[in-house]
Amino acid sequence: MGPPDAETRARMSAFRADLFAGKVAVVTGGGSGIGKGIASALGAHGATVVIIGRNAERLEAASHELGAGCRGMACDVRDAEAVTATIERVVADSGRLDVLVNAAAGNFLAPAATLSSKGFRTVLEIDAVGTYNTSRAAFLAAMRDHGGAIVNISATLHYGGTPLQVHAAAAKAAIDAMTRTLAVEWGPAGIRVNAVAPGPIEGTEGLARLLPSSLRESLQRTIPLRRFGRVDEVADATLFLASDAASLITGAILVADGGAWLSGPALL
Ligand code: HXC
Ligand code: NAP
Repeated sequence: MGPPDAETRARMSAFRADLFAGKVAVVTGGGSGIGKGIASALGAHGATVVIIGRNAERLEAASHELGAGCRGMACDVRDAEAVTATIERVVADSGRLDVLVNAAAGNFLAPAATLSSKGFRTVLEIDAVGTYNTSRAAFLAAMRDHGGAIVNISATLHYGGTPLQVHAAAAKAAIDAMTRTLAVEWGPAGIRVNAVAPGPIEGTEGLARLLPSSLRESLQRTIPLRRFGRVDEVADATLFLASDAASLITGAILVADGGAWLSGPALL
């Protein structure tokens, strides 16, 4: 049996089916993993969704799977000019842009001593500069005129010290700083800027890259809820922050990790 269609997903949801009706959303990293789950949930609740990533074939397959109301636009978030052109195109086609979710990221395990400067910079550029590029483009092209909601997908690995993650920790800390700063700078324009910080999420590229399978069970035993999260749970947290249910919330970083970072080893 395949994944449920949009109508079924909306019916199973804790949110009203028309929560994002008439809204236009962009999800970077929407071609796979957590970003795809968020794009799917936004679409199931009535939004027109554009997913962004580098791999056009993967975007095509994902937008086909997500159905009418979703389309892919290939773009590298590190390329500010390409990002601006892509976002301007979304606004020209749809007339507005209400929701931006920044989920694009790159990561791998690497000791700080042997990670190259380019390796460090690459992750900073995808995660932090990419988030800046899309946020600024969304602000200039549409959100400064009619408001909107930005949700950045962060992490918890920088709350303590996570070995082999100096690049990703620095990048996610920058994203958290941007979340608070832009919330203040753009609040008067009716733009809310928040973040979701997932813990380890089942079935994702991030988990596969960062957690050796031999450590899965022992890590789960340290999590207060005794399990990894699911993509749809990160999507629910994102939908909440993007929706009018969070109309007074800006500059917040919502941890969605089953309590993992409070009590567990700094692995993710
Ligand atoms: C050490 C590495 C490396 C590795 C790449 N580099 N992989 N260094 N260990 N495993 C170095 C390269 O040697 C190179 O530096 C530099 O990084 C750039 O590598 P490229 O391959 O040229 O970069 P690029 O093609 O732009 O690809 C970016 C990428 C790649 C991040 C390296 O893995 C990617 O596209 N990832 C996207 C998908 C992804 O990572 N998903 C997981 C997200 S999970 P030199 O000096 O040698 O030229 C996630 C979780 C966060 O973010 C928090 C979890 C808690
Ligand atoms: P994923 O499937 O690899 O998602 C990353 C996405 O980013 C991919 O769709 C990728 O598409 C896109 N991307 C990468 N570089 C890009 C670039 N330069 N320009 C445009 N798009 C780019 O990984 P995931 O595990 O679902 O992670 C999604 C988000 O959740 C990330 O922000 C990650 O840091 C965060 N997170 C994940 C976990 C976890 O347990 N998985 C935990 C905490 C936080 P292309 O390759 O097509 O470009």
